[in-house]
Amino acid sequence: ALRPCTLVILGASGDLTRRKLMPALYNLFELGALPSGCQILGCGRTALTSDHFREQMLVAIRQQRALTMEEWERFARLLAYRRLDYAQQADWQDLASWLRQPGLPASRLFYCALPPDQYATVACQLGAVGLQQATAPDYSRLIIEKPFGHDLASAIALDASLHQIFAEDQLFRIDHYLAKETVQNLLMLRFANALFEPLWNRSYIDSVTIIASEQLGVGQRAGYYDRAGVLRDMFQNHLMQMLALVAMEPPSRFETETVQNEKAKLFRSLRPFSTGDPAPQLLLGQYQAGQIDGQAVVGYRAEAGVAADSCTATYALLQLYIDNWRWSGVPFYLLSGKRLAAKQTAIHIQFKQIPHSLFGHLLSAPIPANRLELAIYPQERIALHLQTKSPGGKACLAPVQLCYDYPQAPLQARLDAYEKVLLDCLQGDHMMFWRQDGVALSWAYLEPVLGRCGSQPLLPYVAGSWGPPEAAALTARLLNI
Ligand code: BG6
Repeated sequence: ALRPCTLVILGASGDLTRRKLMPALYNLFELGALPSGCQILGCGRTALTSDHFREQMLVAIRQQRALTMEEWERFARLLAYRRLDYAQQADWQDLASWLRQPGLPASRLFYCALPPDQYATVACQLGAVGLQQATAPDYSRLIIEKPFGHDLASAIALDASLHQIFAEDQLFRIDHYLAKETVQNLLMLRFANALFEPLWNRSYIDSVTIIASEQLGVGQRAGYYDRAGVLRDMFQNHLMQMLALVAMEPPSRFETETVQNEKAKLFRSLRPFSTGDPAPQLLLGQYQAGQIDGQAVVGYRAEAGVAADSCTATYALLQLYIDNWRWSGVPFYLLSGKRLAAKQTAIHIQFKQIPHSLFGHLLSAPIPANRLELAIYPQERIALHLQTKSPGGKACLAPVQLCYDYPQAPLQARLDAYEKVLLDCLQGDHMMFWRQDGVALSWAYLEPVLGRCGSQPLLPYVAGSWGPPEAAALTARLLNI
């Protein structure tokens, strides 16, 4: 059984709490997955009474699901709210006294639903009032979400501030991609089957493409995105995690430490950008006005909050290499962008051509090589593209797909990303979170790539297309479109 705990949401009057955290907590409560005796305290700068906070949370949850007043009342009893000015030490003292009142669980989970520039302050203030401490078996844990820094130096500085107060095993750095079923399935697929691993190397694999394309534009987040761009927003975190899972060596056991060690090893094997033969390549782009599903959309520079001369990349296609025995010479392509033709999240493993075709004299076109598609969105599926004889003439080859659609498990068994993340934090399980060294290694790899923004051409692309025309032929080949 999980230890009872007090979950403290910092930033409880904000959007993330309403849209994601509270609905996730309610669902966990309904499943009986929250520890008994669990309390949830919302804290924020906005002055609200606990009753008022509860009313807002009811509205927020009802936007996502139906619930009766009776169901709500049972959950609402767990909720309270306190005003907290993050800069005021006196407010933190009051919070500490409140949390230490008898009857409240002494294990505490602090969720930073706040802008990242507040993380260091929060850690420091928690430390100043001793809330980072707990006597085993009770615990104190801090949950933060990306971005973890803006570059290598700021990521290291952030970690130093956090580690002044918290030990690494108290920190949970969320990457919501790691909570996706099909991403989690990657290690199971690779290492619970005898079939793939012998082929999973430079002898049989021609290239690997990891794509996370989106139709969405920058939306309301220009303030953040215009400083971040696609490399910080998607590559530093989600794409690097997928890369690690698809390319790492088998850990000896499915345990946090061993899995994280293999990921770090993989990051260390990345060929530094723009050195080596062949050197990694990069295309950067920015969307122009165009159409998404028949609707006209504005270009990036015309979005609210974006400077008219912004040089932020909204698209990147990066070709990289992994310098180890398994992957030597195999190009990996990482592609992500906003306002592209479709939302597609997938990993394509392109196998090599067969060494010799005995049908060559009978066929007009070469036989397409095999491909394994690990799709995360829109379908969650594994598809193996093969050639078979089509009925009829002597040598009629036809492409077929062996397809496994990830089961749409009953609702109860399907936890959404935030539900999984919260549950893992309650259990103290770090497997699906970033470890400090991985964060730094990922930044270290990307630094020279980031350095190219501004110094290499930013290629325009029409919203609703597959990216800059310069990338069209490669993208068509990589994605088989
Ligand atoms: C977030 C990025 O981390 O991931 C967003 O900040 C992006 O810009 C989102 O839209 C994509 O996540 P998903 O789960 O929709 O693929």
